[in-house]
Amino acid sequence: MVDVLLGLQWGDEGKGKIVDFFAPQYDLIARFQGGPNAGHTLYVKDKKIVLHQIPSGIFHEKTLNLIGNGVVLDPVTLKRECETVASFGVDFRKNLYISERTNLILPTHRALDKASEASKGNEKIGSTLKGIGPAYMDKTGRNALRVGDILDKNFTTQYIKLRLKHQKLLDSMNFHEDISNWEEEFFEAVEFMRSFNIVNGEYFINEKISSGKSVMAEGAQGSMLDVDFGTFPFVTSSNTISAGVCTGLGVAPQKIREVIGVTKAYCTRVGSGPFPTELEDATGEELRKLGSEFGATTGRPRRCGWIDLVALKFAGMVNGVTQLVMTKADVLDSFTELKVCETYKINGKETSEVPYQMSKLNIEPVYKSFKGWNLDISGISAYEELPDSMKKYVAYINNYLNTKVKYISTGPGREQIILAP
Ligand code: GDP
Ligand code: IMO
Ligand code: MG
Repeated sequence: MVDVLLGLQWGDEGKGKIVDFFAPQYDLIARFQGGPNAGHTLYVKDKKIVLHQIPSGIFHEKTLNLIGNGVVLDPVTLKRECETVASFGVDFRKNLYISERTNLILPTHRALDKASEASKGNEKIGSTLKGIGPAYMDKTGRNALRVGDILDKNFTTQYIKLRLKHQKLLDSMNFHEDISNWEEEFFEAVEFMRSFNIVNGEYFINEKISSGKSVMAEGAQGSMLDVDFGTFPFVTSSNTISAGVCTGLGVAPQKIREVIGVTKAYCTRVGSGPFPTELEDATGEELRKLGSEFGATTGRPRRCGWIDLVALKFAGMVNGVTQLVMTKADVLDSFTELKVCETYKINGKETSEVPYQMSKLNIEPVYKSFKGWNLDISGISAYEELPDSMKKYVAYINNYLNTKVKYISTGPGREQIILAP
């Protein structure tokens, strides 16, 4: 069976740490969408590592890792990541598999991303500039090159053909930067990838499932960045929700068991777009400082605010979340008052539904207040020892979402996690 672990907000919920925590219980961890726009942080021997494309199970010797067909893969970033994990003694040639159907990010995709964002001016998405949008456009436009193609002797010819197409677009957007360095790196990295375990991903994963192995699908980004259900157009270009697992790995829906939704105890967003509970004041600044809220991929400061139960309930619905993990609860330790958004007020009317076009509406969050716990919880390992006011906060969220918070994360370390009864 396949359990899915994904983010319920606008990304950076702490998925990397949680997958790393769960990984010993699984035979295979598989990424099903996204690409190097993701930055999943985990700690190995007190050293911080940020993974962008390699699944977060890579540090567990007995766990295999698969980059699925739904991912857009940048060979250059992959090579760099492999070098990092190898420096920790990880034998990635043994534990990492790539689907031959995975689409490639080319240097010109990165250039197109940059040119597209520049052309949007104030309306830019705030993309990570990793080439995600243009790479997915070439997939749905049926032009893309895929990992399996690198084994074809005509790969360079195919590359040049697509590059010429891209060049015309770049010229029309007045993008004239020299990207020959990027191309040099790209071909070096493609050569490096040729000796990888490139597999027929859908057979690979289904054989594991039918022989009784346990699989965890690791989401990237968050549900509110989903191309269909997120805050369009300020979203990423893939289906980040649980349905993406089926198309991104070739797994049938009835093979999915648990859908584990990860949420911060508050909320953040990086890049442009609507964020109803954003705090542009000293409290928001405090959350950013205490939570070290700076992007793991781009280093940009993350926008911070209170937890948004309207958006979380919506994410629970579209994903079919069966259990919750609440991360970064420790970041709230020193606040005397906490707030949770229960409804949105739009044009004077309260609603508990996420509207169609959030970016065109003036949404006023309606809050319920909670007393803070004023206690350092980062060293607590038993649920019973957590302060009552925190238990009340969590119980309220459980009740509102009609789904239980099963784990509470109290720090970035692997062991800083509490099982709730
Ligand atoms: P991801 O993209 O969902 O994997 O999340 P990121 O790695 O981008 O961002 C999460 C950040 O929070 C990382 O710096 C983690 O080390 C850190 N983190 C994860 N869980 C916790 C937690 O419970 N408490 C604190 N203080 N930090 C955490
Ligand atoms: P993880 O997996 C947070 C955001 C970007 C931008 C929008 C589109 O670490 O949670 P893209 O580069 O995908 O075209 O950017 O999506 N974004 C993320 N925000 N965490 C991520 O990944 C993100 N990946 C993309 O900031 O607003
Ligand atoms: Mg991240």
